[in-house]
Amino acid sequence: MAAQVIDGKLIAQQVKDELRAETARLAAQGKVAGLAVVLVGDDPASAVYVTSKEKTARELGMHSVQHRLPVSTTQAELAALVDQLNADEHIHGILVQSPLPAGLDQDAIFRRILPAKDVDGFHPENVGRLWQGHDTLVACTPAGVMVLLAHMGVDPAGKHAVVVGRSNIVGKPMAALLLKANATVTICHSKTPNLQEICRQADILIAAVGKLEMLTGDYIKPGAVVIDVGINPVPGFKSKIRGDVHFDSAAQVAGMITPVPGGVGPMTIAMLMANTLKAAKAIWGE
Ligand code: GUN
Repeated sequence: MAAQVIDGKLIAQQVKDELRAETARLAAQGKVAGLAVVLVGDDPASAVYVTSKEKTARELGMHSVQHRLPVSTTQAELAALVDQLNADEHIHGILVQSPLPAGLDQDAIFRRILPAKDVDGFHPENVGRLWQGHDTLVACTPAGVMVLLAHMGVDPAGKHAVVVGRSNIVGKPMAALLLKANATVTICHSKTPNLQEICRQADILIAAVGKLEMLTGDYIKPGAVVIDVGINPVPGFKSKIRGDVHFDSAAQVAGMITPVPGGVGPMTIAMLMANTLKAAKAIWGE
């Protein structure tokens, strides 16, 4: 294997250690950051994510509450909860877990969260600020990828970064962050005809397609930095997950690569905590 493996677990731990220290410093002044996570319905994977977000916030010394609503929740009831959390002075970050059950308008809910408390970075005001190159609350997974790159000493400036996937949660904000960091950015998606050819030009390749091990070694430029955002179940194996990149063949060609699990995943929660503290500090005027 040629590539250096990027240890997301270790880097996430370092980020959390720094946040714990900052949380303690602020707690000494009586300031406690608060995160509210909202789960509608009973999707088991979402329940695991939401519980782990709430637990991590507590571990870092933050105030943390979880709201679980039944699948029958109406748009008006969910909107009322968001309004209540917007007005709650102990809450600085609000996360409504997506996807919401069918029938609920997710975008309307994301728009209802106060931009200042939007720790997901999904509110159009924060998305607009990001694309205009301003400092703002940014979606956690792409923000985590930027921290991974920085820790590995990878400066995107002047590099060709190829983002495979155009979701609002990962692909688009990822492209905006890489552009802000002065990369030349290409966004590819399911309708891109010459995907392999474009991927092979990438100095930094971000895989966020949601297709199990789709990007094999022959999609990768020798020496490239490969970041795998995919979390795909492996058919026939209970609770085994793999990425969008075929790790073994890609690692023969890449210069650096993130594993799945243990790469980008741990960074997402760490960045949610970072966003919560950032939101709280902005609200406090720190
Ligand atoms: N579902 C999958 N990823 C995310 C995320 O980052 N935020 C929210 N709110 N829901 C998600």
